[in-house]
Amino acid sequence: MSFAIAIDGPAAAGKGTISKAVASHFGFAHLDTGLLYRAVGKKMLTGLEPVEAAKTLTPEDLERDDLRTPEVAQAASKVAAIPEVRAALVDFQRAFARRAGGAVLDGRDIGTVICPDAEAKLYVTASAEVRAKRRFDELSAKGMDVVFETVLQDVKERDARDMNRADAPLKPAQDAVQIDTSDLSIDAAVAAAIQAIETRQG
Ligand code: DC
Repeated sequence: MSFAIAIDGPAAAGKGTISKAVASHFGFAHLDTGLLYRAVGKKMLTGLEPVEAAKTLTPEDLERDDLRTPEVAQAASKVAAIPEVRAALVDFQRAFARRAGGAVLDGRDIGTVICPDAEAKLYVTASAEVRAKRRFDELSAKGMDVVFETVLQDVKERDARDMNRADAPLKPAQDAVQIDTSDLSIDAAVAAAIQAIETRQG
């Protein structure tokens, strides 16, 4: 049995937290597709050609512990606008979505391009200010020396690039359930997500 759950939305909207909780609730596997683009972005920063990097990505590349920096996030958003990079990552994501036992994929184009036939689709969002505050707190907690205004600028820049690119831009799938987490606790956001998916499960 396969059951694919697509969770899309902008940076720091809560997709990661919701996806992990949803995967654990249903006993499904989880793929954070942003990591694929971050790994390619990281390789570009070290001098590799992005399309080549995407074609030769290995599971170990996704396990690096230096992929969650603002610099790598921006590089990821840049390589993600290259159609050949996206094309090189499609098969892996589609195979993951259709694995036996169910899968949760989170990203930007899961419900629209990677898995338009997903059994459940969510679009998780929040205001840019709330998302920047979350990212700022997260980076500060890791001991990084960050300035809120810079983080907000980064979030807005990445939103604009991800939403306005020609290939697979970030946008809600027509049949996605939208969840705005600006004023929701983590528990409330997770509960809303699970309820929306259970409705689709029938
Ligand atoms: O979710 P994230 O912040 O880790 O994603 C990093 C970047 O990767 C994001 O700015 C855009 C890109 N991305 C994408 O284009 N498509 C996806 N499915 C996931 C991420």
